[in-house]
Amino acid sequence: MNLSGNMLELPAPVHYGNLSLEAAFLGRRSIRNYKEDPLDLKEISQLLWAAQGIIRPGGYRTCPSAGALYPLEIQLVAGRVDGLLCGSYSYDCANHAISYKNEKDIRRELALAALGQSMISRAPATIAIYAIFERTTRKYGERGIRYIFMEAGHAAQNIHLQAVSLNLGTVVIGAFRDDEVKKALGLQPAESPLLLMPVGRI
Ligand SMILES: Cc1cc2nc3c(=O)[nH]c(=O)nc-3n(C[C@H](O)[C@H](O)[C@H](O)COP(=O)(O)O)c2cc1C
Repeated sequence: MNLSGNMLELPAPVHYGNLSLEAAFLGRRSIRNYKEDPLDLKEISQLLWAAQGIIRPGGYRTCPSAGALYPLEIQLVAGRVDGLLCGSYSYDCANHAISYKNEKDIRRELALAALGQSMISRAPATIAIYAIFERTTRKYGERGIRYIFMEAGHAAQNIHLQAVSLNLGTVVIGAFRDDEVKKALGLQPAESPLLLMPVGRI
């Protein structure tokens, strides 16, 4: 593992898991209660790779993207992850690394922004999916908006199935106040939060 500046290279993702894809479909369900135990970096690596990892030359990713324009970004909100300081991290898919954004523990603030959904403050980590709409609407106009929502669904399902395969629990959270989530995550004006996925041990 390499740390240069505020960038932390993640362990290489595993490409052959213990569970068949079909068994992952069967095991998928929304899980809202997690154990106190921390997650580890291998698990975080695997989940982020599932969300938006690069899988072949040209920057193509685990999820399809309209026009290969990749409007989605992933932010990790870490509370209890072995080897990580508490805080927010941006996923850098090109380097399969995370970069430290800030050290604030925003889990409670995020839970309040999500209408008090306390699983966010209890989970050791939450994966936030947000989008830069302009990357796609520049080419596709208003239709690009629906493409981006579809892409968030692809990423969320990848995270869900990867969590099943790692024997972790997660749930897709779409009910939140956009402006408050945006503030908690420290997003820029052009960055729009789409989904939150708390993850923890079951
Ligand atoms: C777009 C979307 C938004 C959702 N938002 C929430 C949410 O805010 N809070 C929550 O607890 N579950 C949320 N869910 C999860 C659903 O409640 C859950 O998928 C549904 O009850 C079916 O259960 P299952 O996922 O275990 O099959 C959301 C699911 C989707 C697809």
